[in-house]
Amino acid sequence: MGMKAVDVKWVLERSVLILISMCLTYVCSNPIKTTSEFVSNTIIQMPRIRAQKPDSYMCMAVPVTEFGFSNLVGFKIKVIEEVVHHVALAVCEEYVTEQRLWDCKSNHGHICKGRSITFGGWDGWSKHHADTIFPDDVGVQLGKDFKLNYVIIQTHFQEAIQDPDSLKSNPTNVTLFMTQESRKYSYQQVNFFSSGYIPAFSEDFRAEITCKWGGVPVNVYEYSAHTHDSGQLLEGYIVRNNTAFLVTKENPKGKSHDRTKVKGGTIEIRPGDILAVRCTYKNTGPNKISFGLGGSDEMCNLALTFEYDAKEITAFPESVKCSADAQDKVWCPRNAGDQVGVLCDLQQAANNNMAPEDVHGIIM
Ligand SMILES: *[C@@H]1O[C@H](CO)[C@@H](O)[C@H](O)[C@H]1NC(C)=O
Ligand SMILES: *[C@@H]1O[C@H](CO)[C@@H](O)[C@H](O)[C@H]1NC(C)=O
Repeated sequence: MGMKAVDVKWVLERSVLILISMCLTYVCSNPIKTTSEFVSNTIIQMPRIRAQKPDSYMCMAVPVTEFGFSNLVGFKIKVIEEVVHHVALAVCEEYVTEQRLWDCKSNHGHICKGRSITFGGWDGWSKHHADTIFPDDVGVQLGKDFKLNYVIIQTHFQEAIQDPDSLKSNPTNVTLFMTQESRKYSYQQVNFFSSGYIPAFSEDFRAEITCKWGGVPVNVYEYSAHTHDSGQLLEGYIVRNNTAFLVTKENPKGKSHDRTKVKGGTIEIRPGDILAVRCTYKNTGPNKISFGLGGSDEMCNLALTFEYDAKEITAFPESVKCSADAQDKVWCPRNAGDQVGVLCDLQQAANNNMAPEDVHGIIM
């Protein structure tokens, strides 16, 4: 291709330099235990920044064209724990502003436009802050062809930061683990949440969520369940042909987002399945508690992390969410035509305080 000798020499020298620096990264700090792949670490630092008020959310967008490699296979997050409550990581096709760094509290829940993937992140309530490493055959292909053009880091600050120079370092560092080769399966996550409120003086209030799966077949391999302090129980089921498969039934642990591997490896979701989530709360106080973002609000969040065929590039053109108003009894709607027998049974069983294990048709 007519490359001059001098160019070749330059290319060779560069390659050797690149190889050396990558090998160092690879050998010294790469936590990914694959032998055939070359994994590079890309570090993104959110700069020291002013946060006008307590409870500020600041976002930073980085174009993926700034990275050497294009296949994301994991990440780790480091924060200044004294000032940072929570960090969330996402990749999106587009995002809401033109700015690279902005106050994004008012954009919460709709920062991305078009295709997007959320990854969870870091928070002060979870016990495990280990690196997040996707399974060996799972990745996220970044770039224009895959409609994923930006990495977004969102940092939730506890207190106002009037003087950014008072911070001992930059508040958030995200290291992306990347490979050059794509992998067989793509990563995605479906997030469940409630709106509405928990009435005052309720011993046993249930917020229910359901959605019908319209996407391609996927395999769930990990989940995290999250409520705030009134949460007593969080349940997630996949309902197929009137049979409920249990994903999780657990007591939420004080606002944590700890991730749990699915028992037995994976659980499938097929087109036509119904995803059903329910949170049970105790609110003995004289005031209702709203679902929302604040620390004194409540949440009913389940995140299911799944893998699907990477060739299905258009399978999830937007973020994958499922939500309902806690005042609507969506597990067993009034209209008989919309009812799913096993969910009506589960709702009834809970009303009768019967253990769900007693209900016919549930496979644990
Ligand atoms: C982020 O990285 C920089 C450069 O390595 C380091 O000085 C700083 O302490 C890091 N910040 C955190 C919160 O780990
Ligand atoms: C659902 O279950 C019924 C009754 O067991 C069965 O006849 C039917 O084929 C099943 N449908 C599917 C899609 O599996």
